[in-house]
Amino acid sequence: MKINLQRAITSLTNALDFVGTDEFQHGKRVALMSAAIAHEMNWSQSHRVRMLYAGMLHDCGVSRAKEHRAITETLEWEGAQKHCLRGADYLAACPPLANFSSIVLWHHTRWTALLQEDLSEDVRLEANLIFLADRTDVLLAPYFVGAALKNEILWEYPEVIKRIADMGGTLFAPLLVDAFRRAASRESFWLAMDPTYIEDQIDDQLHSSRPVELDTVGALAIAGLFAHTVDAKSSYTLEHSTRVAGIARHLAEASGIRGEHLDMVEIAGLLHDIGKLRVPEEIIDKPGPLTREERAFVMRHSYDSGHILRKVFPGQPIAEWAALHHENLLGTGYPFHCQATDIPLEARLIAVADIFQALSQERPYREHMAKNDVMSRIDSLSNQGRIDPEMVKLLHSQLDRCFELAVG
Ligand SMILES: [Fe+2]
Ligand SMILES: [Fe+2]
Ligand SMILES: [Fe+2]
Repeated sequence: MKINLQRAITSLTNALDFVGTDEFQHGKRVALMSAAIAHEMNWSQSHRVRMLYAGMLHDCGVSRAKEHRAITETLEWEGAQKHCLRGADYLAACPPLANFSSIVLWHHTRWTALLQEDLSEDVRLEANLIFLADRTDVLLAPYFVGAALKNEILWEYPEVIKRIADMGGTLFAPLLVDAFRRAASRESFWLAMDPTYIEDQIDDQLHSSRPVELDTVGALAIAGLFAHTVDAKSSYTLEHSTRVAGIARHLAEASGIRGEHLDMVEIAGLLHDIGKLRVPEEIIDKPGPLTREERAFVMRHSYDSGHILRKVFPGQPIAEWAALHHENLLGTGYPFHCQATDIPLEARLIAVADIFQALSQERPYREHMAKNDVMSRIDSLSNQGRIDPEMVKLLHSQLDRCFELAVG
């Protein structure tokens, strides 16, 4: 299996951009502004593309809407360092994207402090450029209503430029501020940020760059990175996706699946809940029953996962396996109400791994359960005809290893 890195990053960061629930496309705007300023700096085309990626990925350490809000509403927030450290760690562990780790680590550090650090000039400027674009986006926030950019920006942008320029020499490198001033003095700089144009703008720039293909090992690494982001959404779901992926892979292997097919099952397990980035954490963490409005957020997450993954893995069944993880054999699952015959084996496997791991882990509404209690719940779901009895039989035969993978 081969995937296109450009497409993978743009689609997966769409999910990141939903973390701000009421404020979205932040990563894409930072990407576009960074690339435009890099152009003014006369950086090479590949360097500009690197800044596009860095912009899209820079907040991969942010999973919670509350944190997203604090970072995007305050110019200098004292808690900002945490998401830099988290994001840098995730990226360092992902070989295809490891060279973005240091940019992300330093993207909320003042220029004056960066000069004291033992860093290459490139990393200093790249990290500070992301910081500058990121803070510009904070000042830009009042110019968005719903999915539209207000025309006011076309006469008020000099004020935004001035506020950033005032921070030149302290927060931002004077060289970058000069380049920003030149780039941002054109209306086109701001109009490109219109929510209806922004994706095309990014695609156009990526199209002109050389496509990068990833093999299955690379795809697994990228899936692992985004699984970390999803799992960090709530302390109750820590490691949920990575563990579901491990269980699903183990069960798939025990059922006779081999080779790349196993990697694909693991990838679907890692990313099955990527749509949850859109669910506010108050809902995931809520101990009591959900309201109709809250439940709607939950009901759409597996659909959203499928939508994102179809773009990352076109022509592959991975998106379908992930999208169907809340369907059941009675046809009463969500959101498709699939009949049993329409649910492939791999989706059944992921569904069982998902339920098994969730029951084994503590949740806001209950303590974690002992192995035997988990299995009696699983057996009862199987007896009701909801989950595949063959998969449950497999799980029983591999119980010790699966429990270790679930919570060990
Ligand atoms: Fe940001
Ligand atoms: Fe789910
Ligand atoms: Fe899940």
